[in-house]
Amino acid sequence: MIDKATVQKITDAADIVEVVSDYVHLIKRGRNYVGLCPFHNEKTPSFSVNSVRNFCYCFSCKKGGSPVNFIMEKEGLSYHDALLHLASKYNIKVEEKELTEDERRQLNEREALLLANEWAAQKMEKALRDTEEGRSIGLQYLYQRGVTDEAIKKFRLGYNLDSGHSLAEAAKLEGMDMKSLADVGVLGQSQKMPGSYYDRFRGRVIFPVLNPSGKVVALGGRDLKGSMAKYINSPESSVYKKSNELYGIFQAKSEIAKQDNCFLVEGYMDVIGMWQSGMENVVASSGTALTDGQIAMIHRFTNNITLIYDGDAAGIKASLRGIDMLLAHKMNVKVLLLPDGHDPDSFARENTPEKFREYVERHSTDIIRFKAQVLLKDVGDDPQKRAAAIESVVSSLAHIPDKVKRIVYIQECSRILGVREEVIEAAVEKSRGEVVDRQRRQRHENEIERLNENESNPQPDLTKQLRPSKGGQLAEMYPYYPFERNVVYHCVRYGILDFCDVEYEDGTSETINVAEFVAEEIQEDKIWFTFPAFAKTFNRILDLKEDFSNENVAFNEALENERKMMMKEGYDDIASKDLSMEEIRRAERLLEDRVNEELEKRRFEFARYYVEQKLSSHHDDDVRRTVNEAINEEQPLSNIYIRNNPVSERKMEIDRMRVLVPRGVLEWKNEMLNQMIRAKMQQLNSIIGHSSPEEEQKILMETQALMEKRGHLGKVMGDRTIGKKIK
Ligand code: UTP
Ligand code: MN
Repeated sequence: MIDKATVQKITDAADIVEVVSDYVHLIKRGRNYVGLCPFHNEKTPSFSVNSVRNFCYCFSCKKGGSPVNFIMEKEGLSYHDALLHLASKYNIKVEEKELTEDERRQLNEREALLLANEWAAQKMEKALRDTEEGRSIGLQYLYQRGVTDEAIKKFRLGYNLDSGHSLAEAAKLEGMDMKSLADVGVLGQSQKMPGSYYDRFRGRVIFPVLNPSGKVVALGGRDLKGSMAKYINSPESSVYKKSNELYGIFQAKSEIAKQDNCFLVEGYMDVIGMWQSGMENVVASSGTALTDGQIAMIHRFTNNITLIYDGDAAGIKASLRGIDMLLAHKMNVKVLLLPDGHDPDSFARENTPEKFREYVERHSTDIIRFKAQVLLKDVGDDPQKRAAAIESVVSSLAHIPDKVKRIVYIQECSRILGVREEVIEAAVEKSRGEVVDRQRRQRHENEIERLNENESNPQPDLTKQLRPSKGGQLAEMYPYYPFERNVVYHCVRYGILDFCDVEYEDGTSETINVAEFVAEEIQEDKIWFTFPAFAKTFNRILDLKEDFSNENVAFNEALENERKMMMKEGYDDIASKDLSMEEIRRAERLLEDRVNEELEKRRFEFARYYVEQKLSSHHDDDVRRTVNEAINEEQPLSNIYIRNNPVSERKMEIDRMRVLVPRGVLEWKNEMLNQMIRAKMQQLNSIIGHSSPEEEQKILMETQALMEKRGHLGKVMGDRTIGKKIK
């Protein structure tokens, strides 16, 4: 854990223009900077960087955020690692917080294993180039397979000498932790001579597996002598879960995001072959079927995936495996079959990069269309086979969450399979119900498992924030979600600005800010934010008041000094000119106005952007995400009004806040009353005729009272607002 003060130091130091400039060529345009978006491919710049607000945003793909957010997305790092990344950029020393005994042990173990892997990978990289054996055997093999020096460097390929003990001896000599090296499978323990170690990868060419942040988590070793195991790989350990890693992701991730597509191949050499042909957005699942964890990793960078297989029977079969899972993850899936007997590596060797890329463009097919065609081909006139093929296609279609997309596919598959659209649609919708049920059960089970885990390990897991989708189960759990979101977003934008004065019965009065106004208004009707991320964010905004008033004092003092400086400079300037008394007086008045205006603007901006400054890099995922989304969604004020007129910009902003905030609260309350009325009506319907007239009368009156309240809502709210003195 990084302590709070250091986090603050890092987020204060991180300048969005500097951070983004490491990845994007920025051009100044007015108060902002623009450039080509690093998250998607584009020819005209839609990526905008706001230096005042320390925030970036792509108007096209909508990615961006605070410096921390930007680094997390761009580098695929966790919050913690993104902070470390920025700390090292700004030479900030990071003191990690004291950990519990258990955490330290786990962390130490992980560190030790990563260290062992990194040490071994470096040794093997060196052995490939700096030893006679490495060059004549390892390097020779790679060259012969067409691997370039550039690729060897990029993928950190290496060689483990064949003597059997070269690494083990070096490790002992250098005082490395032998147990860690054995745990990651670099060394094996001799059965015959306990306590003595040998090189597990001896005589093999080495492919290190890097995780998204570039740490070596495993090694793969290619045999060169025709031994039984073509490849041996690192065993699973606390740093390596095979099913969660993808070979090549570190080298490919930024290109995947940029191309908005990911090629998936089977093996180490296939990744390298594609890479050398100029298709750098490529990863390998290392010979196994894709897992949920791997899909989620790809999903961080793109929604589009192209599976590449050998065009033989085994390849076709493999391509159909696991597609339902990809569809369920809302991925757009294409498949590409290479000519029979080829894998990407061999195809790359026999064709020029241009030919290869052209082949890929021309032969990528949508997976469902592909599946329907393939299955149909086998059917012949066997009705049973035909039914089975249709059922299998229907099952895939049922995994597509998006209804519109499903319908388009149903039409197409109906044509391919020669079955009426209504028939397929009915089957798909029925199967869809089952799929959704299954997924819901699965989610439920996961949730319970998560809760149980938390029970024994009382650290809340906030990494996943569920977003209720329209009509989904979560929409039932959070019926006011859109209303709460609207209000919490306003509070992110305006929360700390003064809203009004309230007078209390004892004669005292107080100025409350926008967030406090909201809090009072909703508490009045006994409501509060129900969606956890919003409740958390709103509480953090309320908490900011005290910090803000302290910092505001210091800020105003600094501004006062600046006023003196600006005035002095201005007076000197006036004095240096040869002006009449009358002209001097006028110039001084103008000077004062200009300085006041400038300071007023800064004061406003300080308050206006205070919430986002404080919370857009907050450590809590829910809070940070909510704040960044709120800023992302902000509509810029109309340019016509604000062009070169900061006064009217400010005024418009305040006017807008005065309208939007009460309206947001009102809409929320109104919806609540609507739902209560609806519930009462239902209750009334269900008891009519089964219950006493008194009971019916009572519910009827309650319903009417609610309706009356709803009618008065706008007025009451208006009155209350007027009762408080608007500043
Ligand atoms: P392949 O057998 O297709 O190997 O296995 P390849 O990548 O084409 O290797 P070359 O071209 O013969 O050198 C595909 C992937 O499956 C895993 C590896 O990740 C390999 O790249 N694999 C295969 C193993 O882990 N162990 C094995 O024994 C074989
Ligand atoms: Mn191969």
